[in-house]
Amino acid sequence: MEKAQFAVVGLGVMGQNLALNIASKGYTVAVYNRTGTKTEEFLAGPAKNKAVIGTYTYPELVESLETPRRILLMVQAGAAVDAVIADIKPHLEAGDILIDGGNSFFEETERRTKALEEEGLMFFGAGVSGGEEGALHGPSIMPGGSRAAWTALKEILTAAAAKAEDGEPCVDYMGPGGAGHYVKMVHNGIEYAIMQLIAEVYDVLHRGVGMGAEEMGDLFTAWNETELASYLVEITADIFKKVDPDTSQPILDVILDEAQQKGTGKWTSQNAFDLGAATHTINAAVTSRIISGMKAERVDASTRLAGPTPAFSGDRQQLMDAVKEALFVSVVLSYAQGFGLMQLASDEYAYELDMQKIAKIWRAGCIIRADLLYDIMRAYDQQPALANLLMDDYFGQAVGQRQGALRYVITTAIGMGIPVYALSSALAYFDAYRTARLPANLTQAQRDYFGAHTYRRVDQEGSFHTEW
Ligand code: 6PG
Repeated sequence: MEKAQFAVVGLGVMGQNLALNIASKGYTVAVYNRTGTKTEEFLAGPAKNKAVIGTYTYPELVESLETPRRILLMVQAGAAVDAVIADIKPHLEAGDILIDGGNSFFEETERRTKALEEEGLMFFGAGVSGGEEGALHGPSIMPGGSRAAWTALKEILTAAAAKAEDGEPCVDYMGPGGAGHYVKMVHNGIEYAIMQLIAEVYDVLHRGVGMGAEEMGDLFTAWNETELASYLVEITADIFKKVDPDTSQPILDVILDEAQQKGTGKWTSQNAFDLGAATHTINAAVTSRIISGMKAERVDASTRLAGPTPAFSGDRQQLMDAVKEALFVSVVLSYAQGFGLMQLASDEYAYELDMQKIAKIWRAGCIIRADLLYDIMRAYDQQPALANLLMDDYFGQAVGQRQGALRYVITTAIGMGIPVYALSSALAYFDAYRTARLPANLTQAQRDYFGAHTYRRVDQEGSFHTEW
């Protein structure tokens, strides 16, 4: 029997769709799932008459593949990855490559890569973004690990990846070890930030201005034709327009307001604290998901703690225009934070991340794809060592000129008692970044006062202590 060139282990929707995607590009794909009935269903259903071979044991899977074997694991991040590795490993030969396509924590990828390489196998961590549709039609893929593994995988991953408007594939080698999963983690951190910014804009327009779902749908559709054009704005327009078949209300009105999370955004913030990166808006997004989860407490508090009643009485069109500008600015600031974090990580972990390459592969296929990424790519192309996206002329001016809109939206929301933590955190990031002298001199004085921690002076070298 003809051998397969690639294998997928784990036939959840992502695994199934990636297998179908790769099979559609002229490769034969072997598949395996722990529960064999799922494999049978897949073969009889979506994979029928496709170049997909079903296997039911690991020896059978391994036997079906040409060498070196390329096996993509699409299983839940965490213990399941280690379990599959332990089960499949005894059947592999030196040079075979295991690829982890899940949202694994990059440090786990580092550990697994090291352990498997010591045994002569290759382990490759590839972040995959784009959800079910992306997996089927072309995701953005963020691979990291050994160069040798990348050489063996490049052709297939390139065939499977999304293509940007200029035809460039949305996959490229990110760096050694856990670099691919690191970049995917930051992608998700930015994803959290943008989602929270959009949620706050929705709150201001809905509760504050009293806009209905349909009107907001039209507004987002129009915004998607502007500099805000992006996947998240596009799907939000669709979401606004969706009607619940049971109640005939906008579906948003019947969805419980508790945001869940699987952890990638939280990891981004935790890692930013470890590295000393300022990721205001990502942190605000994580915290906002947490307080959304305190539903019962919030419902109770809403009957006891009064505040302003959201009711906007100013110029509606003026606010709507400002909201659009405010969203754009704060999205730019979220990317600036994410890229700033990756710049620190690049040194810290010796990943040698190439910011231009990252912007390039985020232009299509992934959740945070946006027209804006073409400009980010251009900015890093012109200045590969750009300290901050805001120091690029275009972005510096784009934010500078629109900051008034962001200030207006935030003060209006605050006046109405609508929480806009992500929007205001974005502005605080901008204001702090552009401030030459912050009040941290006082913090230093306090630390020295109560703990003799010493401080540095603006006019003399050395470390000083005052007898307070
Ligand atoms: C993607 C998404 C994907 C997943 C999120 C959801 O890039 O395709 O980021 O990986 O949908 O991780 O994350 P939460 O459950 O934490 O919101």
